[in-house]
Amino acid sequence: MSRLIILSNRLPVNVVRDKDNIRLQPSVGGLATGLASYRKSSDCIWIGWPGVPRDSLSATDRKSIQSQLQAMNCIPVHLSAQDVQDYYEGFSNKTLWPLFHYFQLFTIYEQSYWQAYCRVSQLFLEAAAKVIRPDDTVWVHDYQLLLLPGLLREKFPHLSTGFFLHIPFPSFEVFRLLPWRKQILDGLLGADLIGFHTYDYVRHFLSSVSRLAGLDNTMGQIQLGSRQIQADAFPMGIDYPRYARAVQSPKVNQYVRSFRAKTHRRKVILSVDRLDYTKGILQRLEAYDLFLADNPQYARKVVMIMLAVPSRTGVEHYEKLRNRVDQLVGRINGRHATIGWVPIWYMYRSLSFERLTALYAVSDVALITPLRDGMNLIAKEYIASSSDGKGVLILSEMAGAASELPEALIVNANDKQAIAAAIREAIEMPEAEQERRNRLMQNRLSRYTVRRWARDFLESLGAVKEKQKTVRSHKFSPRIQRLLMGRYRSAKRRLLLLDYDGTLSPFASRPEQAKPDGELLTLLNRLTRPKNNRVVIISGRDRQTLEQWLGKLKLSLIAEHGAWHRDSGGQWTCNAPPATAWKKQIRPILEIYSDRTPGSSVEEKDFSLVWHFRRTDPALALVRSQEIKDALRNLTANLGLGIFDGSKILEIKNIAIHKGNAVSKWLASEAWPFVLAAGDDYTDEDMFHAAQTRLFTIKIGPGPTRARFTIESVSRFRSVLKSLSSI
Ligand code: UDP
Ligand code: G6P
Repeated sequence: MSRLIILSNRLPVNVVRDKDNIRLQPSVGGLATGLASYRKSSDCIWIGWPGVPRDSLSATDRKSIQSQLQAMNCIPVHLSAQDVQDYYEGFSNKTLWPLFHYFQLFTIYEQSYWQAYCRVSQLFLEAAAKVIRPDDTVWVHDYQLLLLPGLLREKFPHLSTGFFLHIPFPSFEVFRLLPWRKQILDGLLGADLIGFHTYDYVRHFLSSVSRLAGLDNTMGQIQLGSRQIQADAFPMGIDYPRYARAVQSPKVNQYVRSFRAKTHRRKVILSVDRLDYTKGILQRLEAYDLFLADNPQYARKVVMIMLAVPSRTGVEHYEKLRNRVDQLVGRINGRHATIGWVPIWYMYRSLSFERLTALYAVSDVALITPLRDGMNLIAKEYIASSSDGKGVLILSEMAGAASELPEALIVNANDKQAIAAAIREAIEMPEAEQERRNRLMQNRLSRYTVRRWARDFLESLGAVKEKQKTVRSHKFSPRIQRLLMGRYRSAKRRLLLLDYDGTLSPFASRPEQAKPDGELLTLLNRLTRPKNNRVVIISGRDRQTLEQWLGKLKLSLIAEHGAWHRDSGGQWTCNAPPATAWKKQIRPILEIYSDRTPGSSVEEKDFSLVWHFRRTDPALALVRSQEIKDALRNLTANLGLGIFDGSKILEIKNIAIHKGNAVSKWLASEAWPFVLAAGDDYTDEDMFHAAQTRLFTIKIGPGPTRARFTIESVSRFRSVLKSLSSI
C-alpha cells in the first residue's frame, strides 16, 4: 500500500525532561501544529529530530523515546550537540532563516555550518532510506531540509517526492548572496512538486531557477532532463473546526471567564508570536507606545497581552531580542502605568491550546505585525476562534496570510504611525463592521483548511507523477533503439533529416560559437559513407554558415528553414525567392528594441530577421519579446509574415517558408524504407508533421511535440547516431 512519509526537521512532538522523567510534548510552530491534525488521520510515518541533542540522552532515554515515538508512527533522527549547533542553530537559523526573511545583516556565511547541513541531510536520508518503499509518497518540509529532495532523487530515481517551503522564498537578488545557492537549488529540484505559501514566493523561486540553473518554465512547470517538476502556491490553512469549536469546551470557557475577570472590561489587544526578530515585536511595542501617548483618553481602558514563545534560545540574535523586549516592555509600562493599571502584560512562555484559544476569544484586537512571515497561522487562528464574529485583526502586509485576509486592517509593519492609527480604528470599529469582515474571512478559512491544503498538495503531486509517466512512455527507450537499429540495418535506402542547433550541436551563448566539433564532423562523415544513405541537414541558419561549417561533407544542406537548398557538391538554389522588402521596415524596429535590451542582437538572413536574446536577463527578454510582438503584429500580418518563438530567439519570416515544405520534397522523391527525422524546436514541428507517417521522428529536449519519441539531450542523440554509424 502507498504510504505517506513526512520528513521535517522537528517531529510534531518534542522530548522534554522533567526531573528524571522523559516525556513528549507537542512542538510549537506553524508546521508542527498545522500538520499534526492531518497526521492523525492518515497512514503515515513522520521522520524528524526529537528536539534534544543525542549527547544529553542516556541509552535508556533513547530506548524510551524510541518506543514512545514508535507508538505515534514517528522515527527519530538523533543529532549530536555539534550538529544542533552547526546545522540547526548554524546553517538553518543563522544563515537560511535570516537570509530568506531579508535580514541580510544577521546572515552568517560559514563553511562549517554548510558542512554540518550536508552531514545532517545525509542522516535524514539514511533514516528515510530504511523505511521507504518504491510506491511511497515522500513529503519533505521546510528550509532545514532543502537538500533532501535531491538526495532522495539520487537514491530513488522514480520516487514521488514533494517539498513544501514554510518560509518566504526571497527574491533572486537576495538568494544569490548565498555561496551555496546552486547546491540548494539542485537539492530542491530533486522534488517533483515544490510548494510555497504564496505566488510571490513561487515567482522568486522560478526566477532563481531560471537565472542560476538556466531552466525556464511554462506555468511553473520546469523540465529537468526527462523529468517535469511543478512549482505552485498552496497557502497553508489551519484546523478550522478545532478553533471554531474551542470556545464550546468547558475548560476554554473557564479560562475565558477567568481572563475576563482580570481584564475588567478593558479592551484587550493581543500579541502572540515565537520570540523572533522577523515578527516585528519591537516595532509593535513602539507603535503601542505611540498609541498610548497620542490617545490619553484610552489610558486604563486598554491592555496589551503579549505572549512571546521562547524560540532558538541558543542563537545570539534571539537572546539579544529577548533582552530588548524585556527592556522595552519595562520602559513602556514604566512610562504609562498608573496604580491598578499596567498597559502591557508580558509572558515569555508557551501556552496550552486551551489557554491560547481562550486568549483569542477574549481579545478585542489581535495585533500581528511581522516584518516578514512565510504565512502566519496565528492570524488565521484568531479569526477562526471568534465564534460571535467580534474582534479585529490588524495584520502586516508582509505576512503571507495577508493575501487571504484582506478584510483585516492591513498595515506596513515598519510604519508606527499607521499601526497606532489602526489600533485606534480597531478599538472604535462598530461591532456590525467587525462581524461583516470576520464572517468573510471565516468563510474563506473554513473552506481552505489545513486538511484541504495537504490533500491539494498531495493530489497535485499525484498529477505531476501521472504526467511524468505519459511523457516517459514517449521516451526513446533501449527497446526503441534496438528497433531503430534493426530497421536501419535492413533498409536498402535510408533518409536522415537532421536539424543542426540543439539537435547535433548544443546551444552556445553566441550563435557563431556552436560550430561543429571534431566528433560531430567524424560522425556525419561516417553516416554519409554508405552509398544507400542520404543525409540532409535542415537548419534555420544562413547558407554561408552552413557552407563554411559543413560544406565539405557529402551531405545535402537546407538553409533558412527551406528557403535555400544545396545538394552534396552542388550549388545553392532558391526555388521561388520570397519578397524581402519588408526587412527594411522591420529591421529598424528590432534594432530599437535591441539597443534597449542588454545582451540581445539582431541577425539578418536572406529571407528572415532574428532577434537573439540568449544572453539577456530572462525576465526582461520576456517583456521585450512581448513588446516586439505587439509592435509588429499588424505590420507582419499584412505582409504575409509570421513571428515565431524559438529557443531564445524571435524570428520574423515569410509564413510559406518552413521545414515541412522543405522535407516534403525529400520524402516524396522516392519510397524510402527508412526515414529518421530529428529536431529540437518549433521549426522542426513542421518537419515532424510532414513526416508523420514515419516511425522515427525524434524530438531532442523537453516540451510538447508531434514527434513520436523524445531524447533528452544532444549528447544522447549523438550516441544514437554513433551506434547507427557503426552498423
Ligand atoms: N502556538 C502554540 N503555543 C503558544 C503559541 C503559539 O502552540 O503558546 C502555535 C500557534 O497556535 C500557531 C503556531 O504556534 O499554530 C505559530 O505558527 P505561525 O505560523 O504563526 O508562526 P511560526 O512559529 O511558524 O513562525
Ligand atoms: C517556523 C518554521 C518551522 C519551525 C518553526 C519553529 O514555523 O517554518 O520549520 O519548526 O518555525 O521553529 P523551531 O526552530 O523551534 O523548530
